[in-house]
Amino acid sequence: IRKIAISTGGGDCPGLNAVIRAVVRTANIKYGWEVVGIKDGLQGVMDTTTKLIPLNRHNVAGFLQKGGTVLGTTNRGNPFEIKQEIDGRMQTVDISDAVVENIRREHIDAVVGIGGDGTMLIMNQLYKKGIPIVGVPKTIDNDLLSTDVTFGFDTAVAIATDALDRLQTTAASHHRVMVVELMGRYAGWIALHSGIAGGAEVILIPEIPYNIERVCDVIRQRMKREGFSIVVVAEGAKPVGGSHSVLHEGGQGAVERLGGVAYKVAEEIEHFTGAEVRTTVLGHVQRGGAPTAYDRVLSTRFGVAAADLIHEGNFGRMVTLRGTEICDVTFEEAIENLKFVDPDGQLVRAAEEIGVCLGR
Ligand code: F6P
Repeated sequence: IRKIAISTGGGDCPGLNAVIRAVVRTANIKYGWEVVGIKDGLQGVMDTTTKLIPLNRHNVAGFLQKGGTVLGTTNRGNPFEIKQEIDGRMQTVDISDAVVENIRREHIDAVVGIGGDGTMLIMNQLYKKGIPIVGVPKTIDNDLLSTDVTFGFDTAVAIATDALDRLQTTAASHHRVMVVELMGRYAGWIALHSGIAGGAEVILIPEIPYNIERVCDVIRQRMKREGFSIVVVAEGAKPVGGSHSVLHEGGQGAVERLGGVAYKVAEEIEHFTGAEVRTTVLGHVQRGGAPTAYDRVLSTRFGVAAADLIHEGNFGRMVTLRGTEICDVTFEEAIENLKFVDPDGQLVRAAEEIGVCLGR
């Protein structure tokens, strides 16, 4: 190995730059390799004029605290399914051969792909085409079964908890119900963790379809007792017998976008309880800015482990966290299953035992 490349794919996530820094420092200091960053997911190697950024232990200074990804990213960078206009018609084409050729032409000996399940799927396909690749899991949603924790999750929970703390004081002052929509896609991890940490009265997650009458009963009692209430709604939450609220369907490799369910819940609470209700959709604030100390440490450990996998020639694998140990799994295992909140698990039970309503 003389030269490696790093790519960040899918949504941005606090800790991405900390992983990049750790890979670069390990590559330079421990192994003496050269490192380049690929611009915007894999887009930087899709054209013959490649867009690569030279990275070294000196120019990654300050990356540890930096939000977003300095390399840029995209949800639309799947070289196996690129939409192109051919003869005046939009068509899906496979340009993966060109990507493989461009990587080889740049003398890149191995690639570190940092991303979520979608990115790992693409990395696995490229690995099967002969590119030596290792993966690092990334998502604020924490919904990958193969790793106990993904970096970015702790930061998202901290930001959401801070928002809930702030909403508590304004809700109490105005005797209002505050309905807060949090991210997480089809999993309720962010909502459940920050709902518990932020002292929410009601937490609605996708894994437990909610009964609005039950929610309204709890709100009525709470308003009588305390005069204000916080309701956390995961963007993927859905009513009993209903379906997810979808903002738009996605397309060209992009995932379906969820959201707007908080407005529906707020309207129903106002209608059935007569309470004054306000809605906050926290959105991408949950993904922005500096990672927490926990995420900086996890990102650093993942980055070091990814470089080590390359050194060992262990390609086609993604680093993971199991308990307190860094391990690794094959790409197939990495993308096999998503991880959802267990409706009968300890965390949900703990919340319910202290009187939090999960909508059932
Ligand atoms: O997967 C991370 C995430 O932030 C989800 O929680 C959310 O549903 C989605 O990405 C939003 O995607 P986008 O940034 O494309 O709107």
